[in-house]
Amino acid sequence: MVVPNASRQELLDAQSHVWNLIYNYISSMSLKSAIQLGIPDAIHKHNKPITLCELANALSINKAKSHALFRLMRILVHFNIFDKVKIEEEEEAYSLTRASRLLLRDEPLSFAPLALLGIDAITVDPFHHMAEWFSDECPTPFFTRNGVNQWEFGGRDEGWNKVFNEGMASDSRFVSSILVKECKHVFEGLESVVDVGGGTGVVAKVVAGAFPGLKCVVLDLPQVVHGLEGSENMTFVGGDMFEFIPPGDAVILKSILHNWGEEDCVRILKKCKEAIGNGGKVIIVDMVVDCEKQEHNTFQTQLFFDVLMMTVLTGKERTEKEWAHLFSSAGFQNYKITPVLGLRSVIQVFP
Ligand SMILES: C[S@@+](CC[C@H](N)C(=O)[O-])C[C@H]1O[C@@H](n2cnc3c(N)ncnc32)[C@H](O)[C@@H]1O
Repeated sequence: MVVPNASRQELLDAQSHVWNLIYNYISSMSLKSAIQLGIPDAIHKHNKPITLCELANALSINKAKSHALFRLMRILVHFNIFDKVKIEEEEEAYSLTRASRLLLRDEPLSFAPLALLGIDAITVDPFHHMAEWFSDECPTPFFTRNGVNQWEFGGRDEGWNKVFNEGMASDSRFVSSILVKECKHVFEGLESVVDVGGGTGVVAKVVAGAFPGLKCVVLDLPQVVHGLEGSENMTFVGGDMFEFIPPGDAVILKSILHNWGEEDCVRILKKCKEAIGNGGKVIIVDMVVDCEKQEHNTFQTQLFFDVLMMTVLTGKERTEKEWAHLFSSAGFQNYKITPVLGLRSVIQVFP
């Protein structure tokens, strides 16, 4: 007997559990195909539940593969990406769920670019090298696979740089729309903010639009901000946050510190402290992991992000205790966590 004292049913359950983990990637890959094929958009355009035959006609696919489309839809219905409803004469048709509405290309808060970044081969490939990385000297499995870190890779590969920046921009549109509504108080009284590692400037644009008196600067790597144009109260600066951060009343760090290990975070936070002087603050948007308080699914997603950060970068997701340790190591006195962003929180840090 492989497992002592286990009943036949317990063994079968254990096998089924392992099988589910083995083939978990099929859910991501099916989702990727659906986005690439434009299935959510085709259903949306149809304006009412769509039958398999109508869907096959609406997509540019080989019609001989309609049955494969049925099987793709069946698994995505299982994962609540689509709904199956009955229409006339017992015929079945597909409709969107709240999750697939987030994947519509023309939806202003579309998550499709972020989904395509998360499931891109460049993101997924380093996971095949994780075991090898445990025995080598490389900083990340991404480095083991590609021989450079993710930022250098982006500097060399224009296509990947675009996929990455579009993915992050889509997340930023989503987050900043909540930020300026639910966290107005965070920006009130500020005259200037610097969005460090601010990518293509989505957060800064939304903040500058919501608070017209506020001067916003976006600092990011030269390859990211090259050719981007600002506006009256928003400018782009190409540079390295480890070297210099332009001065401002506040610094925004959205999805930045979770990319980096302890020493690098302390270096970044010390540069932020120089930039804001004694009266300013740092506004962090990142996860605060709490295995006791969070429900199973939220905690699971945070664990996914933590291992993603370990695989593609040198970062991690942190508990409140780990955040507090970072802040005091960088010379900050106080912080306030506002958990308004689901998996993520707004953390204000004061000198
Ligand atoms: C995970 S992305 C977050 C982008 C943006 N804050 C957002 O949430 O959409 C991290 C950003 O840090 C930038 N970055 C990496 N190293 C940097 C450095 N040394 N100086 C400035 N920016 C850097 C990357 O180019 C990238 O835009």
